[in-house]
Amino acid sequence: MLPNIVRHSELVTRVALLIAGKLNRDAGFHLDLTLIEAGALLHDITKTMSIQTRENHARTGGELLASLGYPAVAEVVRQHIRLDPAQASAVPVISEAALVNYADKRVKHEEVVGIEERFCDVLKRYAGKFADLEDHIQEVFIETQHLEEKIFSLIDISPEDINEMVEAGTIPRLADNGR
Ligand SMILES: [Fe+2]
Repeated sequence: MLPNIVRHSELVTRVALLIAGKLNRDAGFHLDLTLIEAGALLHDITKTMSIQTRENHARTGGELLASLGYPAVAEVVRQHIRLDPAQASAVPVISEAALVNYADKRVKHEEVVGIEERFCDVLKRYAGKFADLEDHIQEVFIETQHLEEKIFSLIDISPEDINEMVEAGTIPRLADNGR
């Protein structure tokens, strides 16, 4: 993996664990934090390769992890760009895959941002290069807005608080995330 993708993945992991921890503590969820950590750290496992091959790195990352004997992590990675429709609309269920998917949408390269900024960046980078991609990105954006509303209706922080918590260093480093 390229070093910047490693750093991106570490920040996605911290954001995902922060939100998942709050859902577990404050909203009675039983999210598997170990699965979230593994899925978030590995979500872009084939991304470096995909820059050359143009493969769909969510699909190939999932296939790689499944072939290595990690089917649960594979599912999280497979759905990190777009959740399966059943997962996206399941209320009030929020899966480990949904948490990693959402956290990835909040980290632009190595910076925590709002989902609008992240999607604008994606649109700039990819729109026009692939047919129908713009419509697809818009659809995923709307799904992510719904997911964000669902998540933050259950905990006492707002989407903007995540940025501040990262800036303030409130999000623990992986080694001491309290598990
Ligand atoms: Fe990715």
